[in-house]
Amino acid sequence: MNTISIEQFIQGIPKVELHLHIEGTFEPELMFEIAKRNNKKIAYTSVDELKKAYSFNNLQEFLDIYYAGANVLIQEQDFYDLTWAYLNKVHEQNVVHVEIFFDPQTHTDRDISFDTVIKGIHRALEDGKKQLGISFKLIMSFLRHLDETSAFNTLQQALPYKDWISAVGLDSSELGNPPSKFERVFAKAREEGFLTVAHAGEEGPSEYIWEALDLLKVTRIDHGNRCLDDTKLVEKLVNLQMPLTVCPLSNLELKVVTDLKDHPIPEMMEKNILVTVNSDDPAYFGGYMNENYLEISKALHLSKQQITQLVINSFKASWLSDQDKEKRIAQVEAYFQKN
Ligand code: ADE
Ligand code: ZN
Repeated sequence: MNTISIEQFIQGIPKVELHLHIEGTFEPELMFEIAKRNNKKIAYTSVDELKKAYSFNNLQEFLDIYYAGANVLIQEQDFYDLTWAYLNKVHEQNVVHVEIFFDPQTHTDRDISFDTVIKGIHRALEDGKKQLGISFKLIMSFLRHLDETSAFNTLQQALPYKDWISAVGLDSSELGNPPSKFERVFAKAREEGFLTVAHAGEEGPSEYIWEALDLLKVTRIDHGNRCLDDTKLVEKLVNLQMPLTVCPLSNLELKVVTDLKDHPIPEMMEKNILVTVNSDDPAYFGGYMNENYLEISKALHLSKQQITQLVINSFKASWLSDQDKEKRIAQVEAYFQKN
């Protein structure tokens, strides 16, 4: 025990990512490369200038830049390259399973076809499985600032790809766009066999988490930070062992927390909430999985045991088969014992 540093421990432990927007992995270098080959303009003259713009006071300020960045994605190959770059990055970090979001409306609203988007992403995920050994699930997220009709249209376009899409989600501007706005779309999605998840309680109130549970029948809450405002809700999340996919560096960059030292993860763990660590939009928030684990470990003085617990929580919260979960958790426990 205690033979390796926390950095090495985090690097080596097999990890899962459960909250990741593929459009949020668009690194400036790749953005400029793809913009150039597609003859698309970027509002910034260089990678450095673009990176300087990555300073946000809230979710909306980030979303404005995030959607602008996605504008240069046109061809199936662009979506492939984006996804492939992400998979290679997290492979280096020993991430072995990913459950990732894509936002089709960000692209279909620009007249890029649904097929182009999903075919590029899916082909890269398949290659990642074969060549890097990373297993995956794909989640189609509805943009909640758009209306119900647009979400229904998007769901319709997803039906031929049911085998490739495990779940539907809900993201984008949370305040003023409660889960109840999409109750009927989510009911239809469940009827069609999709699992459901939703961003709730990132900037929005704990009532939105209740709505995600009661109206959208979600199997995970994305973020969920604000649950701690409501004791009854915490009790419910614990009883259900409802996973929260929490994103520390995202929370810091979007001012959901002012300092990582105040991040609610330890309180959530203490209360027995099934909390997990994720990167959200790593190209914009300064870190992928290892950086998220490392920064909270330093700020909150997490032990190797606590880090191991967070990793086990992620495997539990994933949609891997029970057999695969058991195998992975045993592997993680053995790693902890050895290190
Ligand atoms: N889309 C990409 N990242 C998001 C986040 N953190 N919250 C809501 N929508 C998002
Ligand atoms: Zn998110």
